[in-house]
Amino acid sequence: MLPVAGESCCRALVELAPTLRSLMAITYYKRLRMEIDLDGHGATLAAALPGRFVWVPWEEDLLADHAEVKFQSFRYEIDAYVFPCLGDRYGCQRLMREIRRKPGFLPGATWLIACPEGYVATVQGVMDLGPIGAIQNLGVIPSYRGIGLGRALVHRALAGFQEAGLRRAYLEVTAENNAAVQLYRSLGFHRAKTLYKAVDG
Ligand SMILES: CC(C)(COP(=O)(O)OP(=O)(O)OC[C@H]1O[C@@H](n2cnc3c(N)ncnc32)[C@H](O)[C@@H]1OP(=O)(O)O)[C@@H](O)C(=O)NCCC(=O)NCCS
Repeated sequence: MLPVAGESCCRALVELAPTLRSLMAITYYKRLRMEIDLDGHGATLAAALPGRFVWVPWEEDLLADHAEVKFQSFRYEIDAYVFPCLGDRYGCQRLMREIRRKPGFLPGATWLIACPEGYVATVQGVMDLGPIGAIQNLGVIPSYRGIGLGRALVHRALAGFQEAGLRRAYLEVTAENNAAVQLYRSLGFHRAKTLYKAVDG
């Protein structure tokens, strides 16, 4: 018996459907814009580091080091799915160059933390329209987490915003990034807006 016209083509499409669906799938990640009022924020005091760690202020020739710490901090994290460049060494270098080129780039809100083994944590800050301080990427290399470096970095960035005369700051965080959301809440950030980021694949 002859197949109904187009049947084999339909069957092929049905068989292909799961593959096509997975190729075309879009995932929506919930993101929170969180803000903080900087008036009265005790940033400088709280930016103290545990004994063997030191602050490293921004210098142009540290761009590659910020990028590398960013890559080591984000490569296996949820944000590497939301922003694939964060899971890629060259992507992190590109992103770092973009942040540096922003007109509002703030050296005073951009820091590395170092210890005898090398650089272990990074944060970058820019001034956005508002004006308002924007924390870009906060990252602590996994084996150095849980000892207060993330909190100290946020305090240090906020102090940089205050020194630049800013009175408010914000950041965006993926809602399921529990560690980061808890950290920001504990510092006084509150949710200002919910956003959804569409990611292919
Ligand atoms: C989020 C991140 C920067 C936290 O750095 P950290 O140095 O481990 O954080 P701290 O030790 O300063 O912890 C400060 C607070 O954060 C919260 N926190 C940190 N890790 C947590 C975890 N695993 N679960 C829940 N809360 C956590 C707690 O409130 C903690 O305070 P506490 O120690 O008094 O309980 C780090 O996990 C990281 O680099 N993650 C990958 C990159 C990333 O997602 N960055 C944020 C992008 S928005």
